[in-house]
Amino acid sequence: MGGAAAAAVALLAATRRRPAAPPLAFLLPRVARAGLHEAAAPAAEEEKGRTRRRRRRSSSSRLLGPDIPDTWDPPLRAAARPPPPSGAGVDYESTATIIDGKSVAEDIRFQIAEEVRQMKNAVGHAPGLAVVLVGDRRDSESYVRYKIKGCEEVGIKSLLAELPGNCTEDVVVDSVSRFNEDPSVHGILVQLPLPQHMDEERILSAISLEKDVDGFHPLNVGNLALRSRKPLFVPCAAKACLELLLQSGIELMGKHVTVIGRSKVVGLPTSLLLQRHHATVSIIHAFTTNPEEITRQSDIVISAAGVANLVRGSWLKKGAVVIDVGTNPIEDPTSDYGYRLTGDVCFEEAVKVASAITPVPGGVGPVTIAMLLANTLDSAKLAYGLATESHEL
Ligand code: GUN
Repeated sequence: MGGAAAAAVALLAATRRRPAAPPLAFLLPRVARAGLHEAAAPAAEEEKGRTRRRRRRSSSSRLLGPDIPDTWDPPLRAAARPPPPSGAGVDYESTATIIDGKSVAEDIRFQIAEEVRQMKNAVGHAPGLAVVLVGDRRDSESYVRYKIKGCEEVGIKSLLAELPGNCTEDVVVDSVSRFNEDPSVHGILVQLPLPQHMDEERILSAISLEKDVDGFHPLNVGNLALRSRKPLFVPCAAKACLELLLQSGIELMGKHVTVIGRSKVVGLPTSLLLQRHHATVSIIHAFTTNPEEITRQSDIVISAAGVANLVRGSWLKKGAVVIDVGTNPIEDPTSDYGYRLTGDVCFEEAVKVASAITPVPGGVGPVTIAMLLANTLDSAKLAYGLATESHEL
């Protein structure tokens, strides 16, 4: 082995013995941060650690990776992080086009309303969306309100099952099963996140594939990942990101797109959809060691980390296109509600570097709801034999 190669192997071995915490480690929950430094634990802790590791290994295949949550900083704490020195990496001369999600959503809703009218004339039925809301999280309640208002605006029938946060998983599954059997319901959405004591995968698997308008069913995700196949439904936020890029005339083929976050709701399906559009995709998550460096090389940055002001102006290449999927509540005593929503991207800085950017609110959010209505309409078309496109199951 040559000197350089031997040195590289020695370095690798040393790194494996004592993994360095990644720069974004401060964004991880305490339990995950502790996991990064298990090698330094004292003897008693070492034994506990071994038991934990054994349990982890027996519960999931090592090849599928350790089951550490990909949780970032809570939004309120992240918002309190001090801003960087003004001017760092920022060109104050340029101004970005603001991508208007509200008007894009309005156009989509207009088309959907017309198709719903035609469906009612043709088959005498409107599409139906059932929403299951568990618990009383204020953010979830307000997202659900917007979804139901969207249905009303386009003539889609909506049903809402509101369940207490301390109900059992079986109660939620029963509610989903009833909607599965109701022929007037074409789409079922279980609002996430669910209370911690519930097994999200079990509840989501109870939704029948034909009514999975969220696109979270493994077969829908799998078919999205395989370029030769077509999913029945694609997750709404991912569709919204692509719609905004395409409607803004932004070329995707061969472009370097960085997606921040890898959740099944946004990051993962967006990265898969972008690859189907022949973009070169980098995915950043809470364990990525050099997030700034990667985003700074990107033509397009799509952020769905759920961390207020994570992406600074200095993270962006001049002229980059920025799609901000974050909706993080931050304290604001001047607002009626005591808080306001802010994105993952520090808008005031990014707007001076980017060529185009979505605002929060008024960017991805309204288009995501429009996509939910579109998926529900598509599902009803399939149910009534009005669909023209074929899908592979
Ligand atoms: N919570 C936040 N976004 C979403 C979404 O797109 N679907 C569901 N079911 N829950 C969410």
